[in-house]
Amino acid sequence: MQENSNGEPESPVRLAHFSDLHITQKKPGWRASDVFSKRLPAWINLRLLGRGFRFRHATKVLEALAKELPTRNLNHWVFSGDATALGFEAEVQGAARLLRVGETGLPGGIAVPGNHDYFTNKSISGGAFERYFGPWQVGQRLGNHVYPFAQKVGHLWLIGVNSCTSNRWPWDASGEVGPDQLERLKQLLAQLGPGLRILVTHYPVLRANRRKEPRIRALRDLDRMLEVAAEGNIRLWLHGHRHDRFHHRPEEGSVPFPVVCAGSATQSGLWSYVEYTLNGPLLHGLRRMFDSTLGRFVDKEMFDINLSLAKTPSLGEVMG
Ligand SMILES: [Fe+2]
Ligand SMILES: [Fe+2]
Repeated sequence: MQENSNGEPESPVRLAHFSDLHITQKKPGWRASDVFSKRLPAWINLRLLGRGFRFRHATKVLEALAKELPTRNLNHWVFSGDATALGFEAEVQGAARLLRVGETGLPGGIAVPGNHDYFTNKSISGGAFERYFGPWQVGQRLGNHVYPFAQKVGHLWLIGVNSCTSNRWPWDASGEVGPDQLERLKQLLAQLGPGLRILVTHYPVLRANRRKEPRIRALRDLDRMLEVAAEGNIRLWLHGHRHDRFHHRPEEGSVPFPVVCAGSATQSGLWSYVEYTLNGPLLHGLRRMFDSTLGRFVDKEMFDINLSLAKTPSLGEVMG
């Protein structure tokens, strides 16, 4: 067991990380104006072009996840966005209800929105994500700004950053942290006390094959975000958006600190989440995958990452 700065033994912290639930409803609350928004082509993709088929068991799998999580001896739950398919309030509400967000007796959580939760300007201004996932957004922040915010869990700081914007065109799934939030993130990171810093956001740094995201799926200000994160001593970046699970280590090149993608918890065939046990800077990961025959999650794969091995000088490798 690791020791803290006072030489006392430090208890390991156990987290569950899940993402990209893409819950929808039969009647999510269509209005006439939605027909002229990017929701219509997205709905066509969902209902007619196969996306809905890939998520046809999403509700059932999320119910199984919500049943399992309280039994796994976890300290905190991490959700990295895309609760919904089309960013409707009814979808956000449904996902938060299935996850029992804010229920007493359950571990706390951290939640950031995904691009589907911020599908239209109305999805953002309506504030549904922040309302229904509010109990998982409590923490230290600057003034009244919702993002970024930081939560202390054992020897960890979990820092939630919103990386999503509404985008005009249906094919544009890119995101942005934005200069104002980046400035606040810088200030927040400068204020935090001792602790291992873990960033939680929706967008990836790189794809599983270590290539950059294509422009239409990328974080538009990734370079600046990496700079702020590295300067602020971030030791791990947790994200979703991509529906396959993978991780990158700084010792393999390409990333300045370890990065883990949870993948989708509910997409058929990929459906899994990750448990992290953090003993000091040593992270032990266990991927639990849904077994459709058993109707529950089972152990799938394990990995270990030493979070003290972040190497800040390699920014150019990923940014170049
Ligand atoms: Fe997604
Ligand atoms: Fe996404």
